[in-house]
Amino acid sequence: MHSFKELVTQFTEKFKESHFPAQPANLYEPGTYFLEIGGKRIRPVMCLMGNELFDTIQPDAWHVATAIELFHNFTLMHDDIMDKAPLRRGVPTVHTKYNENTALLTGDVMLIVAYDYLAKINPQILPRILTLFNRTGREVCEGQQWDMDFETSQTVKLDNYLHMIELKTSVLLAASLKMGAIIGGASEGNCLHLYEFGRNLGIAFQIQDDYLDAFGDPEKFGKEQGGDIRQNKKTFLLLHALEVANPQQKSRLLQLMEENPADKVEQVLAIFRECNVDTWARELKQSYLDKAYQQLEAVAVTATRKAPLLELAEFLVAREH
Ligand code: IPE
Ligand code: IPE
Ligand code: MG
Ligand code: MG
Ligand code: MG
Repeated sequence: MHSFKELVTQFTEKFKESHFPAQPANLYEPGTYFLEIGGKRIRPVMCLMGNELFDTIQPDAWHVATAIELFHNFTLMHDDIMDKAPLRRGVPTVHTKYNENTALLTGDVMLIVAYDYLAKINPQILPRILTLFNRTGREVCEGQQWDMDFETSQTVKLDNYLHMIELKTSVLLAASLKMGAIIGGASEGNCLHLYEFGRNLGIAFQIQDDYLDAFGDPEKFGKEQGGDIRQNKKTFLLLHALEVANPQQKSRLLQLMEENPADKVEQVLAIFRECNVDTWARELKQSYLDKAYQQLEAVAVTATRKAPLLELAEFLVAREH
């Protein structure tokens, strides 16, 4: 058995191998840039952990983990264009450092290289893995579309937000665990509970991401502070503030969203603070964490084997980056 931290170290080391040929350099070099600037590598590690819950880590789990991390980085490269984000992992995003066409095409080829890794796995389990991988990929696109649609919508409710983050973020965490478990020969029931653990944990993870976007230390978080506020993202922070704000605060918020003044982020943050959104954030996050733990309880393996997953959960919701 390996701890969460040991697996992060192992995967990070292995993932350093080159994934791309040298030419055309303008296609592949930005991909290498993006992979080398860091990243927590939590999804591939979740695949390895899902595998090790039921077996020793199999070579196929490493292939799938690599495919998952490449897929994740592809989504980030395109997401940064969509969100007009200047920074990621503390350095310029690909479309800022190079240009948008580069970020599109380098992202595309990264997705294709991900499938090259999937193609290496045991043909007997490939269909199950591929079906889950593709379903998840499609859901991520659906979540991303809701996220974009919500930027210009005034009628988004907390339920819509939760559904959106489930699709854009949490299903990939859930599927990463499940793919590892499938490779480990887990039963349907265990796969299901593990998926539900990942799904609830993933929701708590995105709640933390949205919280850090507003209240995190930009030095540690590595992204521009208030990027979501600038883009009028309908995060739970904004939805909750609009709900509890007094009439003046509410009309101020709506005006700021409409007019985008230079000091919009500072002004919106001040209203968020007045509305105590951070207390509410903690409660919301905790409620999904509790649901996640219940599902982990139900996975039929000895408690000691679950220790790395608990370590992971604690890290994910307390993280500052
Ligand atoms: C960022 O994911 C995108 C979200 C779903 C919030 P991570 O926070 O896992 O990003 P890296 O890979 O560690 O940079
Ligand atoms: C991104 O959500 C989810 C995907 C890339 C699929 P965010 O837009 O909140 O992620 P960050 O904050 O840019 O990492
Ligand atoms: Mg983004
Ligand atoms: Mg986004
Ligand atoms: Mg974010």
